[in-house]
Amino acid sequence: MNLYQTVDSTQTVLRDGTIKLHDEAGFEGMRKAGRLAAEILDAIAEHVVPGVSTEELDTRIREMMLDGGAVPATLGYRGYTHSSCISINHVICHGIPSDKVLRDGDILNIDVTPLLDGWHGDTSRMYFVGEPPLKAKKLVDVTYECLMKGIEVAQPGARLGDIGAAILEHAQNHRYGVVREFCGHGLGRLFHDAPEVVHAAKAGTGPELKPGMFFTIEPMINLGKPWAKILKDGWTAVTRDKSLSAQFEHSIAITETGNEIFTKSPTGKDRPPY
Ligand code: MF3
Ligand code: CO
Ligand code: CO
Repeated sequence: MNLYQTVDSTQTVLRDGTIKLHDEAGFEGMRKAGRLAAEILDAIAEHVVPGVSTEELDTRIREMMLDGGAVPATLGYRGYTHSSCISINHVICHGIPSDKVLRDGDILNIDVTPLLDGWHGDTSRMYFVGEPPLKAKKLVDVTYECLMKGIEVAQPGARLGDIGAAILEHAQNHRYGVVREFCGHGLGRLFHDAPEVVHAAKAGTGPELKPGMFFTIEPMINLGKPWAKILKDGWTAVTRDKSLSAQFEHSIAITETGNEIFTKSPTGKDRPPY
């Protein structure tokens, strides 16, 4: 089987394990979906305040997606019934919006994926509720740095494992745990496609990064041990040791000369405080 498949933007693509190499129209589609996703994360910031429920945030997010001409890719995805994932404090990822309200000092991740004109813009950021403890803010800062260090090494000719190596090294320098159970992923017309982008890897391993590849990098970093478990709802992933966890996610492309981030905040609000 071929490892790579060159696709054009009109083609039906299958989840067949191949790494898709996209054309310019694919880049255009991802720029629009990624920009909408980033604008939604920008706009939600002012609503992240004590007393607001995660369901209220999810409703606003759904409305913004629909207003932007998109649909929430998570709605109905594998039985998921919400328009975002909202993961508070020791929740690693896939927190389900509910009537739970935000409290002063919480840190949370909001993860959105609008599907716009057939393209998926997948991105998440951390938010502060009021003034979290210094330890929590430091974890959030280092997690953002982990994402950006992963993106820095995502260059044509590099290997996929270089990304996870860069992330792991930075997290370990701070004695943080890198979650292994969840990965970044190829995306485009498909939400979750090859390759799996692991966040703890060995440099020089894995497939070569080639221009036209689209994938996410979305490291989840724990203040304590890396171990995760999933709650009985079948979605919510939490740290086993109940330590705080943080995550940032961008959707990127490999280009001829480096990479392009599709989900950068147009207003520079890529990390808190906003
Ligand atoms: N947006 C998540 C990701 O980064 C996936 C969420 S799937 C859901 O890949 F069903 F939990 F919403
Ligand atoms: Co993702
Ligand atoms: Co996501």
